[in-house]
Amino acid sequence: MHTILQTKNLCKYYGTGENQVKAVDNINISIEQGEFAAIVGKSGSGKSTLLHMLGGLDTPTAGSVLVRGKDISKMKEEELAIFRRRKIGFIFQAFNLVSSINVWENIVLPLGLDDQPVNEAYIKELVQTIGLEKRLHHLPNALSGGQQQRAAIARALAAKPDIVLADEPTGNLDSRTSEEVIALLKMSAHKYGQTIVMITHDEEIAQTADRIMVLEDGQVVNFE
Ligand SMILES: Nc1ncnc2c1ncn2[C@@H]1O[C@H](COP(=O)(O)OP(=O)(O)OP(=O)(O)O)[C@@H](O)[C@H]1O
Ligand SMILES: [Mg+2]
Repeated sequence: MHTILQTKNLCKYYGTGENQVKAVDNINISIEQGEFAAIVGKSGSGKSTLLHMLGGLDTPTAGSVLVRGKDISKMKEEELAIFRRRKIGFIFQAFNLVSSINVWENIVLPLGLDDQPVNEAYIKELVQTIGLEKRLHHLPNALSGGQQQRAAIARALAAKPDIVLADEPTGNLDSRTSEEVIALLKMSAHKYGQTIVMITHDEEIAQTADRIMVLEDGQVVNFE
């Protein structure tokens, strides 16, 4: 087993003195390559803050995030940006699709930003699996919420990232679509050896993970 993601005494504090919020409070975790880890916990327990730091979208107050042993907080901004584009696929609850370009263009956008060629066969397979082949030339706002989320997932997977970080990716989907989306993510992860770290409020989805991390007040109270 290879550790792909690790945190060391990771902290994120907001504010000072009495108003200080310890959003992430001394978290030490290790996640293996190919693992599907679910993060659960009450609203405000620090899930999104942790996920953002794992992907280098937010900087820790103290401690570090190591990806394959490399401390990402020591990377320069440019290096970090390239790392995020090539190695990490983000899926957010709010889909963050670009509204002025069509679905296909949204999906291949990260590749273009990175001057990577578009592997059409792979993207088409992805689009087909996710059931969006008839919507590729539509603008995002002509799609249902579930379809937009599926497009966002295809975009996150387009560059075959090593790590997929998902913040409630099924939060806006009905249960049937949620199951399909999770199945797709797992299939992709299995096929390409990808690691998934996913925040979810859905107990059933959490139960399908390899491990469940429970957060409380910024701390990991259980991870097995
Ligand atoms: N930019 C910020 N400034 C101040 N406090 C913040 C900021 N971002 C988050 N917090 C606080 O940090 C804590 C953790 O927030 P976080 O968004 O990580 O929670 P969460 O577990 O993702 O919750 P939810 O399930 O509602 O999404 C909360 O108390 C929140 O108010
Ligand atoms: Mg959150």
